Amino acid sequence: MNNFPYPSWLNDAVFYEVYPQSFQDCNGDGIGDLPGVIRRLDYIRSLGCNAIWLNPCFESPFEDAGYDISDFYKVAPRYGSNADLARLFEEAHARGMKVCLDLVAGHTSTKHPWFQASARAERNEDSDRYVWTDSVWTNVPQGLSQISGYGERDGNYVNNFFHFQPALNYGFAKPDPAQPWQLPVDHPVCRATREEMKNIMRFWLDQGADGFRVDMASSLVKGDPDFTATMALWAEMRELYDREYPEAVLIAEWSDPARAIPGGFHIDFLIHFNFPGYTSLFRAEPDRDLFRIFKDLGGSFFDAAGQGNIRVFLDEYLHHLKLTEGQGFISLPTGNHDIMRLAHGRSPEELRVALAFLFTMPGVPYIYAGDEIGQRYVEGLVSKEGGYNRTGARCPMAWDDTPNAGFSTADPAMLYLPMDPRSDRPTVAEQENDPESPLNLVRRLLALRRENAALGNDAPFQPLYAEANRYPFVYLRGNPDDGVLIAVNPAARTETCTFSLERSHSLRPLLSSPATIEADETHLTLTLPPVSFGIWGLAPEKEKDQ
Ligand code: GLC
Ligand code: CA
Repeated sequence: MNNFPYPSWLNDAVFYEVYPQSFQDCNGDGIGDLPGVIRRLDYIRSLGCNAIWLNPCFESPFEDAGYDISDFYKVAPRYGSNADLARLFEEAHARGMKVCLDLVAGHTSTKHPWFQASARAERNEDSDRYVWTDSVWTNVPQGLSQISGYGERDGNYVNNFFHFQPALNYGFAKPDPAQPWQLPVDHPVCRATREEMKNIMRFWLDQGADGFRVDMASSLVKGDPDFTATMALWAEMRELYDREYPEAVLIAEWSDPARAIPGGFHIDFLIHFNFPGYTSLFRAEPDRDLFRIFKDLGGSFFDAAGQGNIRVFLDEYLHHLKLTEGQGFISLPTGNHDIMRLAHGRSPEELRVALAFLFTMPGVPYIYAGDEIGQRYVEGLVSKEGGYNRTGARCPMAWDDTPNAGFSTADPAMLYLPMDPRSDRPTVAEQENDPESPLNLVRRLLALRRENAALGNDAPFQPLYAEANRYPFVYLRGNPDDGVLIAVNPAARTETCTFSLERSHSLRPLLSSPATIEADETHLTLTLPPVSFGIWGLAPEKEKDQ
């Protein structure tokens, strides 16, 4: 046993999100696969990442890119076999790396045999496995979405996302007595859904998986506005981890760490959703789009226009941090398969500032494959597998200057999605040799993080200069005596700020030090050039005098 309420490897975990279909194709069919992930493990390790989150790789009709599962126990043939996945676990472990899978706990595909049975008119053992009303003329309560007229069964089913993603039945927090089709969470049928999800987790954890990222983690219990019953459900799942798999981790897609972590998750993302409208799917307060620290919606902080307000992000962040510190981790991902690419509309300098921020904040860092080279969003693509405007963030990884940028040997017309067609598209190979590339900056930032306890995932965080509608943003990691000071100025203008530091004033540049620094007895004044950042080690003033 360790002293942490979580596996100790999380203290220095850095995740890399692999979208398997777009990462590396090994058999020339144009679709990335598990042997491809194995082939690139050393690359992922070379970044300083020691863990992988693999998006769903299970059997599926792929109407939502695999978030519509038809067999939880079987790897989709396009990615390989169950044996390939077991080999990925082994190869990763041999390199000291972990592999977490994606658990789509809330819904399946309509093509899943459970749902096909459930949709039959005749009662059978799967009839209540999904949330169905008692007639097609009975509507689901407000806040839920339903599909009417699916087949012979006289009822509407609740769908969690798209129409083909029926909600598994975990029950209602407060079932309406007038609507007996709303089952309570402890109904044997709803209990059975939980037990089946546990079996799915056990199955893959026994093969060597190191945990799960849970898709739409807040969606399971219906009619649960304060999420009490949903948190209790996950706390029960967490018991399974603590008891049977104490080294495995549960990661939430909830974007509400203040609930997800007390609810049993080890990690939750605070996702800077940046496609309008997407946020409301995940948050209790749909109109509070507070995570727009990045571009694309106007007024974001990390934008050369310099019109943002760091407090919008920071106040919310500090709220979550306070309620979760020491219990679990908040992750600020570089991006993911659902959101705009970090590099979109951003100059190389702007990208560097954003990366410096992301990798010096507390929590477990996550890199979405390609963000380390500033891979760009591809505009104007026809939706692929339910991607819609997310599609352009899912294009294949550009490795080198061979055909299809080394992603695949297939005919370009056969690729899962086209490569970024721009002639100046970033590639790994070209950035390997450029010391100033985003790729090498990521490596340096992650190395710095490893080497400085003050930058550790669980080390303290304290804003030093974070004024509404002002730049820069300055913060301290670790302790004032021997911490690390970070200043970011995304704005395209020189910015000066003055703040006080409790004790030490001598700054030792650690990575970039563009700023002019003036120090007096009690204050530090930093002047940062346009679109720049600085990272310094703090040394007690008396050391200098000795
Ligand atoms: C999550 C996934 C997203 C998927 C949705 C429905 O948000 O990240 O890609 O479409 O859930 O499962
Ligand atoms: Ca393939």
